[in-house]
Amino acid sequence: MADPEALPPTNHLVTRRHHDAISETGAAVDPIPIALSYHQQTKHHLDRYARSLGYLDWASQPDPFRIFKGAVRVKLPLAADGLTTPYADLFTPLAVSSQPLDLRNIAILFELALGLSAWKEFQGSRWALRCNPSSGNLHPTEGYAIVPALPHFKAGVYHYASRDHCLERRCCLEEGAAAELARALPTDSFLVGLSSIHWREAWKYGERAFRYCQHDAGHAIATVRYAGAALGWTALLLDSFSDDDVAAMLVLDRAGDFSGVDPYDREHPDALILVSRGLVSTPPRAMPVETIRAGHWAGQANQLSPSHVDWDMIDDVAEATWKPATDLPGRVEHTLLPPLYSACRTSSATLIRQRRSCLALDGQTPIAAETFYRMLDHLLPRPGVPPWDTLSWPPQLHAGLFVHRVVGLTPGLYLLERDQAIHDRLRAALRLTFLWEKPADCPEHLRLYRLMQGDLRSIARLASCHQEIGSDGAFSLGMIADFTRTIRRQGAWWYRRLFWEAGVLGQVLYLEAEAAGVRSTGIGCYFDDTFHELLGLASDEFQDLYHFTVGRSVEDQRLLTIPPYAHLGRTRTE
Ligand SMILES: Cc1cc2nc3c(=O)[nH]c(=O)nc-3n(C[C@H](O)[C@H](O)[C@H](O)COP(=O)(O)O)c2cc1C
Repeated sequence: MADPEALPPTNHLVTRRHHDAISETGAAVDPIPIALSYHQQTKHHLDRYARSLGYLDWASQPDPFRIFKGAVRVKLPLAADGLTTPYADLFTPLAVSSQPLDLRNIAILFELALGLSAWKEFQGSRWALRCNPSSGNLHPTEGYAIVPALPHFKAGVYHYASRDHCLERRCCLEEGAAAELARALPTDSFLVGLSSIHWREAWKYGERAFRYCQHDAGHAIATVRYAGAALGWTALLLDSFSDDDVAAMLVLDRAGDFSGVDPYDREHPDALILVSRGLVSTPPRAMPVETIRAGHWAGQANQLSPSHVDWDMIDDVAEATWKPATDLPGRVEHTLLPPLYSACRTSSATLIRQRRSCLALDGQTPIAAETFYRMLDHLLPRPGVPPWDTLSWPPQLHAGLFVHRVVGLTPGLYLLERDQAIHDRLRAALRLTFLWEKPADCPEHLRLYRLMQGDLRSIARLASCHQEIGSDGAFSLGMIADFTRTIRRQGAWWYRRLFWEAGVLGQVLYLEAEAAGVRSTGIGCYFDDTFHELLGLASDEFQDLYHFTVGRSVEDQRLLTIPPYAHLGRTRTE
């Protein structure tokens, strides 16, 4: 029976003041200038950071764990230890046999994608780390499963509670409705949904927080993909559904379940990912949104903060970049590349859970050129190879690299073009004096160019908001997006997609660094235009969306590490 508390589809709970303004004045509001202006206004400058509170209000610190009180919980086993898929096999199509779609394997998927990886403790404070990284460890991303009837699972919508490693049943479908959902999904598949609580990041970072939420969503898309790959499953970002539909499918638009919860605690729909045991040639075009809306709902969202600060600019950009329904994207024609190689035979489950951001780098240890080239190679898309096979678009982001310590490579500024189609425009936009030299031993298919020689450690540190991790690694980089043109051509909602791609790039680097025995860190704090000036980028045609660093980590021995689910008295391999 339809729930009277469910809101009509277009009236979702994320503030939509522009939408209201349209109906009041009759004037159409173009969302593209709003997205572009948000980007300009949330740049960090050498003399001025993007607007934030400027201090941390500990009294309103958001709870990092969302739960839905009253929802039936499906306890998940901690089974990832039993999964032995070597990391190297993830990149060889068909090397990993497809695991059955059952409780154990769905549990592994969530453990490796969004589960806890450890607790850290220092001077009486304790905080959890997760397999998916997050700016400031604030974790705006929430995860969902939409499953057909399976052993241990009634058909319906489940929220993943990472602290308790369980799925909370938010919606249960009766037989007829369950059959409709099963018909909409390809055989042996289910959906993973992602949403963001912008306030979690805004609490610390103010107006720039919307960017970080998108980075984090991108990282999470990649962690879902890698976890699925370790189980021999495919994963496809479903790109035709509107955010209204995603909100309805994830139950984010039910006012009653969020009553007592401040609007800023609420969740913004991000993505639906089709996870499947087999190859899916044509993604589903329609989902039984109304049937799910009419399911049996349970669970009351917890309030995350006792009070909030209102960041209007985030509401504005969230609304401007709200995705409409679109056609199914066409097939991406990838450049033919040699097979991707990885030497790392460590279990992917181990590697994924040991991934950490480095807090400091040693400023000494070099990496081999071969390792460097291999990492860059993993940033290139190949059909059927994770995580890039999840995205439905060709590369929009390229990398400007500060090479500090790579054996056999002259230190300096380099450029990696991830798609040859960008070459002429990028070359025309960059500084005229750049060298454009291909390093002698660089694999033929890597479009890597040395632009400038020299010790760029100071500028790399400066560009990354004076953070020493920008200069103390083997290399660091800024991700250069084909920005204005993409957004103007594709729509304002692409602003979020560009950051998602940056997050996926980051997750590749995180795992590749672990595989190579070094570490990395995402760097969301950088001076946008300082990097643009170095490159000679004079307009906003190309924009730097994310920085990253890779090198030998220096661990902080004062921090105590506690196993991820020790607080539940649960061990792995149950
Ligand atoms: C989008 C993003 C931006 C980040 N920015 C920074 C940064 O500017 N400086 C930094 O030291 N760490 C940064 N980090 C690393 C996070 O602090 C780290 O992911 C978080 O503390 C969780 O730790 P873990 O990655 O070890 O799980 C960033 C991470 C992400 C995902």
